[in-house]
Amino acid sequence: MEINGKPLLMVHDFEQAARDTLPHNAYEYLEGGVADDLTVRENRTVFDRMHLNPQALVDVSKLDTSLDLFGMKLAFPVLLAPTGYHKLFHPDGELETLRGAEASGAHFMTACFSTVAYEEIASAATRPLSFQLYLQPHREHTKAIVDTVLGAGCAALCVTVDVPVNGPRDRELRSGFGLPEGAERSNLSFLGQSLAHAPHRPAGRDIYSPVRAPNATWSELQWLRSVTPVPLIIKGLLNPEEAEKAIDCGCDGVIVSNHGGRSIDTAPAAITALPRIVQRVRGRVPVLVDGGIRRGTDVFKCLALGAKAVLIGRPYLYGLAVAGAAGVARVVEILRTELEMAMGLMGCARLSDITAARLWQP
Ligand SMILES: Cc1cc2nc3c(=O)[nH]c(=O)nc-3n(C[C@H](O)[C@H](O)[C@H](O)COP(=O)(O)O)c2cc1C
Repeated sequence: MEINGKPLLMVHDFEQAARDTLPHNAYEYLEGGVADDLTVRENRTVFDRMHLNPQALVDVSKLDTSLDLFGMKLAFPVLLAPTGYHKLFHPDGELETLRGAEASGAHFMTACFSTVAYEEIASAATRPLSFQLYLQPHREHTKAIVDTVLGAGCAALCVTVDVPVNGPRDRELRSGFGLPEGAERSNLSFLGQSLAHAPHRPAGRDIYSPVRAPNATWSELQWLRSVTPVPLIIKGLLNPEEAEKAIDCGCDGVIVSNHGGRSIDTAPAAITALPRIVQRVRGRVPVLVDGGIRRGTDVFKCLALGAKAVLIGRPYLYGLAVAGAAGVARVVEILRTELEMAMGLMGCARLSDITAARLWQP
């Protein structure tokens, strides 16, 4: 795949192309973190500082990247993270992302703030989808969303808990970012136009969002568990104690994440927080991780530290912006191929061969 005569060989090429393609405010929404973007950078630099410990003379003539996750068979351990407002990046929004996900075989976790309603995405899907939920200020509104997505066959529910209030999204604010005409939070349209189409940041540095609960505590998670008959995954933890509480509440999976550096600035890289959570969880539920994954070696490092799978956010949005479904599929294929190359070069034929022994200990 090429754009303006330049080959798109790696995720970084897609990032450059997205910057050249997108309107400035959409690009700032996509790329920005919060405050000084220190956690965004940390998510990357920790991967770059980690060294690998290859093994020679292992039979890698057959590589197997398949896994079972939340009752689904996946061909490889890279999922599409929930991200909002895909109509900013392509006129067909999440439907176009779905086409790319299906073409590449990647599992798509659709977002609460999608610009196409979950039922519409699900009715176009030929494979299971999961749905990311933001708990709403009123429980009956959360329940209505949950009932709708379960009714549309949602395979797993992922509740994001790391943004009870807004962070200082200064890059967005400076760029004048707002939801364009024709784009709304379609899953929230039952709440009325004022909430479904509320500007992303109503009055600049508002602390509270009208469509995310600032008052949710662990008892709300227990309640959510009681009304969710499919796997329930918690997203946005960095602390082992909280992973323990999530398991106590009946969660079936934990996603270690700092929201791609978009929640609290100077939180550690997700990969830094991963080992302690893995140690505490002791295999009781799968632990996933996201944040800063741009290379197959990054995926490999996450798995070596005990993640069962990883998610990518910005990379597939670059693909969506640059070349629609084909771009999404190409980004996934790049990471999948790079992971296979890393496995071969590291002497790991199966995912279960990727252990902490493959990380260089100084
Ligand atoms: C543009 C954008 C929108 C996002 N929207 C959501 C969202 O609605 N819900 C959510 O749980 N996470 C959201 N995230 C966070 C992602 O799910 C994921 O944690 C993060 O993107 C991973 O980091 P990466 O972008 O470096 O891969 C968003 C991230 C980006 C970049």
